[in-house]
Amino acid sequence: MAPISIRLDRVSKRFDHTVKGEVYAVRDVSLAVSEGELLTLLGPSGCGKSTTLRMIAGFEEPDAGTISIDGKDVTHVLPNKRGIGFVFQNYALFPHLTVFENVAYGLRVQGRDEAAITKAVGEVLELVGLTNYGQQQPHQLSGGEQQRVALARAVVFQPKVLLFDEPLSNLDAKLRVEMREQIRSLQKRIGITTVYVTHDQEEAMAISDRIAVMERGAVVQDGTAHELYYRPATEFVARFIGRTNLVNARVVSADDVEVEGARIGLASGLAAGATVQLVVRPEMIELTPAGAGQAGAGVIAQRTFLGEKTDYQVTLGSATLQVSATDHYRKAPLEVGQPVAVRFHPEGIHVLKQLLI
Ligand SMILES: Nc1ncnc2c1ncn2[C@@H]1O[C@H](COP(=O)(O)OP(=O)(O)O)[C@@H](O)[C@H]1O
Ligand SMILES: [Mg+2]
Repeated sequence: MAPISIRLDRVSKRFDHTVKGEVYAVRDVSLAVSEGELLTLLGPSGCGKSTTLRMIAGFEEPDAGTISIDGKDVTHVLPNKRGIGFVFQNYALFPHLTVFENVAYGLRVQGRDEAAITKAVGEVLELVGLTNYGQQQPHQLSGGEQQRVALARAVVFQPKVLLFDEPLSNLDAKLRVEMREQIRSLQKRIGITTVYVTHDQEEAMAISDRIAVMERGAVVQDGTAHELYYRPATEFVARFIGRTNLVNARVVSADDVEVEGARIGLASGLAAGATVQLVVRPEMIELTPAGAGQAGAGVIAQRTFLGEKTDYQVTLGSATLQVSATDHYRKAPLEVGQPVAVRFHPEGIHVLKQLLI
């Protein structure tokens, strides 16, 4: 295991809110980021992601808890003494300065000599693929190129830690995908410890080594994208990461549960008769045509062809299920109103909790 680079220990932050009174923006957050790791804080707007990031940067001071970087307590250390590079949402380049001068600006403020500045700026412009852009003005650049200048500006100080706050939200969808791949590959190439903030679960899954999901100021689960998808700890995480069905099932035996007459070979660890809530992803359900009135059959309520998959909504007893078929090109499409046999593939299905009903 790589050593821990950033550690938050029970960090909290309150604000006085004009309407809501005193609010906890961040409550009792503990996190550890290993050297070279990219950790993403993911959650809906207002859940405390930016405040957490700003406390790591030193722009906000926690009301409680401690923050350390490379083993040194920095809780009350000024931002410019923390060895941090920060990339903001509105990357705010100086419009009247060239690309070179935008990247050089901070080094000039520090009073570095001209030769050192030329060398450092040249190296980072090459790193972000903008070698020949030094004399361009920001308005001559595309959104993606401007974003790369912002990135160059953050890494030119050779920070120990890189922080990103929703850096791609001003870009169009296609560029967002391209830029997140570039950020990811740059981060791995220079091996810099990174904390990345986004509300976009797909972006988080694509870019991260590990994701901490936040809800109302707290971290509710932290794990790899794979762990969060297949073993969400709470209903909130299950709904936030990917699409999901939350399905009630009755335990039939040690190795079986039942959903509206459909058996699933799933060991719940609970006694027969118990009721459990399952997380069933849309791709873990398979539909095949059934005879009308067949026991345990569902009915197609809606069909959406999306090219790489077809999404169905299926009514099964009192449950409505979201189903995704990716093998649809091999089969005749199922029609709305058609009865279908519903088969649950137990491999990816997760028992979320026991329901006391
Ligand atoms: N400077 C501030 N003053 C008052 N309330 C704030 C301030 N900054 C953040 N908040 C509040 O703290 C909560 C978390 O905000 P923030 O960390 O920006 O969330 P996120 O980045 O996840 O959208 C929100 O309720 C927000 O209104
Ligand atoms: Mg924010």
